[in-house]
Amino acid sequence: MADPVDPSAPILLFDSGVGGLSVLAELRKVLPQAPVIYAADNAGLPYGTKTEAQIAARVAGLLGRMTERFRPRLVCIACNTASTIALGMVREVLEVPIVGTVPAIKPAAAITQSGVIGLLGTEATIRQGYVDRLEQEFAAGKRLLRFAAPELVSAAEAALRGEAVDPAVYARAVQGLRGQPGGEAIDTVVLACTHFPLVVDKLSKAFASCGASAPEVRFVDGAQGIARRIAYLTQGQQFRRIQPDFALFTRDGPDVRALAPALARYGLTRMDIL
Ligand code: DGL
Repeated sequence: MADPVDPSAPILLFDSGVGGLSVLAELRKVLPQAPVIYAADNAGLPYGTKTEAQIAARVAGLLGRMTERFRPRLVCIACNTASTIALGMVREVLEVPIVGTVPAIKPAAAITQSGVIGLLGTEATIRQGYVDRLEQEFAAGKRLLRFAAPELVSAAEAALRGEAVDPAVYARAVQGLRGQPGGEAIDTVVLACTHFPLVVDKLSKAFASCGASAPEVRFVDGAQGIARRIAYLTQGQQFRRIQPDFALFTRDGPDVRALAPALARYGLTRMDIL
């Protein structure tokens, strides 16, 4: 029989930046007692503009170091870009259970009334064969319009540092979808980057003010499903928090320090540098 899991072993959530906090928020709802380390590879941010090889090497290397040092019971790659590129490879090399983040095309296809779905992600995510396969499998007969919105990644980072963001950033993301042939019929938008749910209110406003005749838009992301999956995989395990949950960064700087109040709202009351 396998050894029981150490009750103080954390769940490690990994992203390039603050995006994974949208997953952490859902995880807190289902497993409030679980000790968490939130790891952000801010030295590598943004992932979305990097090549597949660069992303795979960073993610595998960092998760290798982090799992050795912190012995998590489970790792969640709370990043669509990293998951769609490196999930299979990381699963092969690490022995810890890994939960990935998959663009929520399946639930979006189930709720769209117009049959036209928008997908906002990073450049790297929207070009992945992984997304093509999800489209073929779950959205056949529907239309999936993709748009890369790297500006929304920096907008979410800035918003969490408490900085003001130019509303034109959100308007450009809306225009990127609505401006495509058929885009006026989009009624469901997949937020295929974990940063984007952090600015969903702003996005929603921007959609509402762009084209009164266009249908109201519903947003879908994977965070709830991921949280449920983590709860399922850790069923029956004991949890004991023996130190405050903390955020781990790969680079220090004033921008990192500015995140402290936002991180504290997610229960991350300490910061550390890898
Ligand atoms: N949060 C990441 C995602 O879900 C990407 C942000 C980045 O470009 O680093 O795709």
